[in-house]
Amino acid sequence: MAAIYLLIAALIASSHALAAHGAGGGVPVAAAAPLPFPGDLAASGKLRTDPNATVPASMDFGNITAALPAAVLGQTYRHGPQISNVLELDVITGHGETVTCSKAVNSDLFDAVLGGLGQFGVITRARVAVEPAPARARWVRLVYADFAAFSADQERLVAARPDGSHGPWSYVEGAVYLAGRGLAVALKSSGGFFSDADAARVVALAAARNATAVYSIEATLNYAANATPSSVDAAVAAALGDLHFEAGFSFSRDVTYEEFLDRVYGEEEALEKAGLWRVPHPWLNLFVPGSRIADFDRGVFKGILQTATDIAGPLIIYPVNKSKWDAAMSAVTPEGEEEVFYVVSLLFSAVANDVAALEAQNRRILRFCDLAGIGYKAYLAHYDSRGDWVRHFGAKWDRFVQRKDKYDPKKLLSPGQDIFN
Ligand SMILES: *[C@@H]1O[C@H](CO)[C@@H](O)[C@H](O)[C@H]1NC(C)=O
Ligand SMILES: *[C@@H]1O[C@H](CO)[C@@H](O)[C@H](O)[C@H]1NC(C)=O
Ligand SMILES: *[C@@H]1O[C@H](CO)[C@@H](O)[C@H](O)[C@H]1NC(C)=O
Ligand SMILES: *[C@@H]1O[C@H](CO)[C@@H](O)[C@H](O)[C@H]1NC(C)=O
Repeated sequence: MAAIYLLIAALIASSHALAAHGAGGGVPVAAAAPLPFPGDLAASGKLRTDPNATVPASMDFGNITAALPAAVLGQTYRHGPQISNVLELDVITGHGETVTCSKAVNSDLFDAVLGGLGQFGVITRARVAVEPAPARARWVRLVYADFAAFSADQERLVAARPDGSHGPWSYVEGAVYLAGRGLAVALKSSGGFFSDADAARVVALAAARNATAVYSIEATLNYAANATPSSVDAAVAAALGDLHFEAGFSFSRDVTYEEFLDRVYGEEEALEKAGLWRVPHPWLNLFVPGSRIADFDRGVFKGILQTATDIAGPLIIYPVNKSKWDAAMSAVTPEGEEEVFYVVSLLFSAVANDVAALEAQNRRILRFCDLAGIGYKAYLAHYDSRGDWVRHFGAKWDRFVQRKDKYDPKKLLSPGQDIFN
């Protein structure tokens, strides 16, 4: 699960960089795609795009053999999840047939497969939308001691203007840091933003506010190679102007766009060196309705996790707008009319040989949500019982079953999900 998430995370991030940085040595893309910069991801692991582009070899993708999960990241509020950016797929169905599908052709199969947990076909090629990459990014972290101020600013940053366009930021995520033990360490291991002195200031802030958790908005403002430093400074200052982070607690880095895209790899390398990568990762990924996120904060970040013995790994939280999801696809989002929901990714690493304890803690978090009536959806969930899957898919269950009967009636595909087998 973790591997898929990271693969697709790289995929969505990199898909924005391809036209400029490309993935060389590939085969030209056929000219029929509706968007100017399509790229094909083939099961060979090669990305095929503009033959003239120059390409860092590290942009090769691994195999996409089973499924495309929704794939959400800090760009999702603008572009939707990865599955909203797929133009066409080649799929081998449970009948053993290879079918090309898109919104225009075999659209039911296309919608079924996207977020379909591998139940309807094996994806052998995905044509995804890409766009020219900016040259550089101003990458900021803004610290908050107050959850309400943090989430109000996040929601403001991801909100569309009346004409549907967005503000100057390109990427918006956020993180939670538990106060007390390990706060300084957690801050210093998050992307090179906080020096020892900065981390000490944040620790002092948390103490002064009697805060049991502090929050950080992470955002990027992309800019072209020919932008002057003063124009970038001015654009960032203007974009920060009406936000309510703690005065003096904004931190920034200036990086190439590729460095930004590759940020997770650096963290992986650091964890690998520290011997903290090849451990179990009992992650919990949830979509939480915006109206209940403050309750989630109180119950989980200020509640359950305060008594945890060891928290290793980032706790990520940011809002997105459901209008960027296509309801016809298999992926599920929280039910109801509410537009905003939060992506909450608790990316625990079992560094203290405590995977069972972390899994029990995850169950406590879900039980808290259930008892509080927080209508969350688990993302990349695994359930053992049919009843849990029925509840997970909710209003989409009947159609999910119909599509299974249509595309994989013998139930050959992805039996390990324990949905039909
Ligand atoms: C894709 O998977 C096949 C079969 O496991 C393997 O031989 C091949 O090397 C993989 N390709 C990449 C790019 O990972
Ligand atoms: C690639 O470069 C060649 C030579 O400069 C040019 O003729 C061709 O149109 C380019 N192809 C694309 C897809 O830009
Ligand atoms: C969600 O997106 C829709 C469509 O762009 C927009 O009309 C609506 O205002 C957005 N909702 C929020 C709360 O930003
Ligand atoms: C500090 O926070 C704790 C736990 O949230 C609370 O019990 C205590 O009353 C607070 N103290 C002050 C001075 O606000």
